Amino acid sequence: MSFLDLARRRVSIRAYRPDPVPEALLDAVLEAARLAPSAKNAQPWHLLVLRDPARRAALARAYPQPWFAAAPVMIALCVDTAAAWRRRHDGYSSAAIDGAIAMDHLTLCAADLGLGTCWICAFDPVVAREALELPAGIEPLALTPLGYPAEAGRPKQRKPLQEIRHDERW
Ligand SMILES: Cc1cc2nc3c(=O)[nH]c(=O)nc-3n(C[C@H](O)[C@H](O)[C@H](O)COP(=O)(O)O)c2cc1C
Repeated sequence: MSFLDLARRRVSIRAYRPDPVPEALLDAVLEAARLAPSAKNAQPWHLLVLRDPARRAALARAYPQPWFAAAPVMIALCVDTAAAWRRRHDGYSSAAIDGAIAMDHLTLCAADLGLGTCWICAFDPVVAREALELPAGIEPLALTPLGYPAEAGRPKQRKPLQEIRHDERW
C-alpha cells in the first residue's frame, strides 16, 4: 500500500472486537512510534501498554466511553517534559509535538496492519495520571485503544486542498 493510500485508509475506530492483538503486531506499532523523529532527537515519550482488564478498567474511568473500555489493548502516550527540547528564545517545549508524531506513527502503522486506533485527548488527566500511576514530570498526552475494528469508521471529511494551500503568501 502506498503511503497516500494508508493515510486515506486510516480512520478513527470507535468499535472493537474483543480478539487479542498478536504480540508481533503490538511490537510493530510500538516500534513505529519508537522510530518517530523528535526535536534534538530527545525522544521524550513513554508508551504505557495496558492489557490487564483491571488496569484497562481504571484507565477507562478517565474516558468513560464503552468502545474505549471494550478494546483489548490501551496505549497511553506519555511525555517526559524535562527530557523534551526547549527553544532557547522563549522556553517553548516540543514535548507535545514529539509525542504527537510518535502517536501518528503508531496509528498509521496500526492501520497498515489492519488494526484500529483512535486518538483520545478528551480524557480526564487527573484520573488518567492516577490510573497510570505516573511519576512526577511524566504527562499523559494521548490515549488510544488498539484492536481489530468492529466498524468501518466514518467516511473521511477533510477541507479541500485549495482551502488550506497558500502559494507564496496568505
Ligand atoms: C489530538 C487529537 C485528539 C483527539 N481526541 C479525540 C477524543 O478525545 N475522542 C474521540 O472520539 N476522537 C478524538 N480524536 C479523533 C478525531 O475526532 C478524528 O481524528 C477526526 O475527527 C478525523 O477523523 P479520522 O481520524 O477518522 O480521519 C482526536 C484526534 C486528534 C488528532
